Amino acid sequence: MSTTVIILAAGKGTRMRSTLPKVLQPLAGRPLLGHVIETAKKIHAENIITIYGHGGDRVQAAFADQDIKWVEQAEQLGTGHAVQMTLPVLPQDGISLILSGDVPCISQNTLQKLLDASSQTGIGLVTLTVDDATGYGRIVRENGQIQAIVEHKDATEQQRQIKEFNTGIYCVSNAKLHEWLPKLSNNNAQGEYYLTDIVAMALADGLTVASVEPEQAFEVEGVNDRIQLAALERQFQANLAKKLMQQGVHLIDPSRFDLRGNLVVGQDVRIDINVIIEGECEFGDHVEIGAGCIIKNTKIAAGTKVQPYSIFDQAIVGEDVQIGPFARLRPGAKLAAEVHIGNFVEVKNSTVGVGSKANHFTYLGDAEVGCGSNIGAGTITCNYDGANKFKTIIGDHAFIGSNSALVAPVTIGNGATVGAGSTITRDVEENSLAVERSKQFTKENYQRPQKIKK
Ligand code: UD1
Ligand code: CA
Repeated sequence: MSTTVIILAAGKGTRMRSTLPKVLQPLAGRPLLGHVIETAKKIHAENIITIYGHGGDRVQAAFADQDIKWVEQAEQLGTGHAVQMTLPVLPQDGISLILSGDVPCISQNTLQKLLDASSQTGIGLVTLTVDDATGYGRIVRENGQIQAIVEHKDATEQQRQIKEFNTGIYCVSNAKLHEWLPKLSNNNAQGEYYLTDIVAMALADGLTVASVEPEQAFEVEGVNDRIQLAALERQFQANLAKKLMQQGVHLIDPSRFDLRGNLVVGQDVRIDINVIIEGECEFGDHVEIGAGCIIKNTKIAAGTKVQPYSIFDQAIVGEDVQIGPFARLRPGAKLAAEVHIGNFVEVKNSTVGVGSKANHFTYLGDAEVGCGSNIGAGTITCNYDGANKFKTIIGDHAFIGSNSALVAPVTIGNGATVGAGSTITRDVEENSLAVERSKQFTKENYQRPQKIKK
């Protein structure tokens, strides 16, 4: 049976107090709506229809690369009205999952359970039982069967005691949506077209309404303000941290760990506190990440140790490398095995060969460094003339003295040595020494200036 996912995303999100539409607010580094769309894709939905209202252009632009049908709900007249807007593009057969753009954590498993339960009955919903369901639509049951959803504002005092509520996630046959939605009225306490009224229509048609509970409660939590967003972020992160620990990752403190993307790990990876991992990252066996590192779209091979406060963006790091503390690897940094990159060393668009070291205060930009070379403290590749970028090539087993400026384009041959403090503008031949400094001025028995007494 073909599955459509309908996502309600027309609400204003006033309580966020933001210029950004609510469904574009980030959770774990990705827009709320992006989480829902990703889950829709995991269940192989054939159509994804998103209902937009406020900030529609920005919302559509944020997902321009995705195959999504956009339907406008110009005026927010209720959840039922919102889904009515999809009827012109909704297939006649198949089944629809109805989700909310601001309930980002609903899982593939829960949706699969809902699909399975609803495929027999033609209608089902996700409900949850909590101590206090104030504000939510309550699930009224008789002999265990769902009889109605009553909105909080329409509920009697007795109904308000009900602890089972409607999470706003449904599965309904498309044929029934085409039949029922045009019949909704707004004759209720809020003057809205309630989607929940389809439950009464299902019962009138002699159907039973299936229900499932989410695997984890936070899956059905909605986001209306920044306090809820921050609370959900922590729950989402706790869940990710748990999954990583189940895979064998040693998180020193799971409550001080943030993953904004995906992390693939080997065995015995250890991650210290306050590390942020973004995008698509991969850590091999026994990788150790020190406190406070920020690692984005980076692969780190087995055995590599990263000292605290190092920053990575689109880097590829080989095995048994030592990095940091306070190192910065920018896009295109490629380190071979056993490289050492020390404190305050920046590497951009450069490859560093096996066993080479740049241990202190260095900039390697647009450079190719061979194997076993030593780049002295304070070495700078001068890769930019103000308009164009040029390459620095350093061979194998070269030794670059401290505080050297290598003015690109320039090549330092295999085994060559550059004297400390040199500004190298011409190629240095293999195995030769190049020194470029002004002559040293010396004065014997020199007296430093004395402080003048007043
Ligand atoms: C709805 C349910 C309620 C349930 C609750 C769960 C109805 C009548 N009630 O409450 O039983 O417990 O969700 O959170 O459906 N939206 C639109 N257009 C509209 C109105 C809403 O797109 O005209 C979207 C909102 O952006 C949001 C979702 O629908 O993503 C739910 O709307 P919200 O106002 O939060 O839910 P309620 O109607 O209060
Ligand atoms: Ca409402």
